[in-house]
Amino acid sequence: MASREGVPDRRYFRTPATAPGPSGPQMLRAIRFINRDPLGFLQSMDRRYGSVVQFPIPSPPSYLVSEPDAVRRVLVSHNRSYDKDTIQYRSLSLVTGEGLLSTSGERWREQRRIVQPAFHRDSLDAIGRNAAQAADDLVARWGDISRGAVIDMDEAMMRAALEVVGRSLLGTDFSRDADRLARATLHALEVVVARARVPITPPGWLPTPGSRRLSAAVSELDAAVADMIAARSASAPGGDMLQLLLNAMDGPDGIDAREVRDEIVSFMVAGHETVASALMWAWWLVAGAPDVMEALATEADRVLADGTPSFDDLERLPMARAVFNEAMRLYPPVWLVTRRALHADVLGGREIPQGALVIMTPYVVQRDPRYWDRPEAFDPTRFLEARGRSAEDLATFWPFGLGPRMCVGRDFAYVEGVLSLATLARRVHVERLPGQLPPRPQAGVTLRPRGSLPLLVRSRRGSPAR
Ligand code: HEM
Repeated sequence: MASREGVPDRRYFRTPATAPGPSGPQMLRAIRFINRDPLGFLQSMDRRYGSVVQFPIPSPPSYLVSEPDAVRRVLVSHNRSYDKDTIQYRSLSLVTGEGLLSTSGERWREQRRIVQPAFHRDSLDAIGRNAAQAADDLVARWGDISRGAVIDMDEAMMRAALEVVGRSLLGTDFSRDADRLARATLHALEVVVARARVPITPPGWLPTPGSRRLSAAVSELDAAVADMIAARSASAPGGDMLQLLLNAMDGPDGIDAREVRDEIVSFMVAGHETVASALMWAWWLVAGAPDVMEALATEADRVLADGTPSFDDLERLPMARAVFNEAMRLYPPVWLVTRRALHADVLGGREIPQGALVIMTPYVVQRDPRYWDRPEAFDPTRFLEARGRSAEDLATFWPFGLGPRMCVGRDFAYVEGVLSLATLARRVHVERLPGQLPPRPQAGVTLRPRGSLPLLVRSRRGSPAR
């Protein structure tokens, strides 16, 4: 479907029709369902109306788009015809400001150029070491678990992921301040999610409990970032992202202190809860599949036997990578991706007006029986190369997004996720509690279990002491 951006291709535009979707009263009746289970709701819309669904919301006209070619068009081939000026990103920017996550156009291109070197090969080595260290620190904190202990894996993965981001990108040891910072980030994001759910949000200056909580959490984040910058300015320069940003302040790019703050908060938000979410779901799934637990541990014993895990080990840990992928297939951490249409377009044969909100979710396509065999089953072997399918390259598996706005931290996430899983699998055995029910995913900024995620963790016999 070759066409210049924004210029309709005649073949494709032959008979564009209005997209089907629920009526206003049907939508009103579904409000409780939407609040209780937004993912189930989106899935049911796709099954009922097809892969382009129009919601009865006049401003902006809103569409759920799940058809893989249409998603590719929005995110890849015609990405310049869409931007991120949507309620989702506007709400997020109350916390992240004008950081890489939410900006568009020239400003985004410039920011991405500045931070990209922080994700090069050398940095990935350090990220791998930091991930393994954070996993070892967790086990040390759990103490004597030779007879098993109930551990909240949600809390554990959040803590470890924050430490890895802090050490790897900002050269900062978050381990002491992790709780305070994690709490401030979560509070801020909670308010943001609540705002994004309500079509009409109160103006920020109205002192609602939500806006008071938001400004308290943002002040806390700002204070932590200011401390970090002050500490770095007083010490020897490092080669991490914080340093790249500080260099950009002094160099020809001339970014200011506010922009540095926005970038740092964006990376803390984007790089912390996402990886933690993938890992906690991975452990939930592994805990219910003893054969996978065994395969993961055997692989880790063989590959990590000689010393600290490193980036080079990644290729030799296909099972850990497959588990990480399969967890993100079933529970994509970033479950919602939105864009605004800058021009009228046609997606999946349906008219999309200028200014429309396009809602896309990997959750729907990654559980679609047309693309996945036994889509609800946890089966990491589907990702092993021996099964002959490189699902990571398909538009039917896109936990990191697609196209130029694809996650800049994708390699970071794989290094951290895979090495964290393997390091822990070498040291502990994880299982579910007797009669434990599946946690209900809570669709916030990322997918997390409602409440906590208690799992039974026991040290493995003969596991390496550190
Ligand atoms: C399992 C972990 C992760 C998942 C599933 C994930 C997912 C995503 C997705 C889907 C997007 C695209 C959003 C869109 O197109 O609207 C994205 C963008 C982004 N991610 Fe990640 N991410 C993960 C980890 C990370 C990490 C570790 C970092 C940084 C350390 C990071 C930083 C970012 C940034 C800065 C963007 C915006 C990039 C841009 O627009 O140029 N992410 N991520």
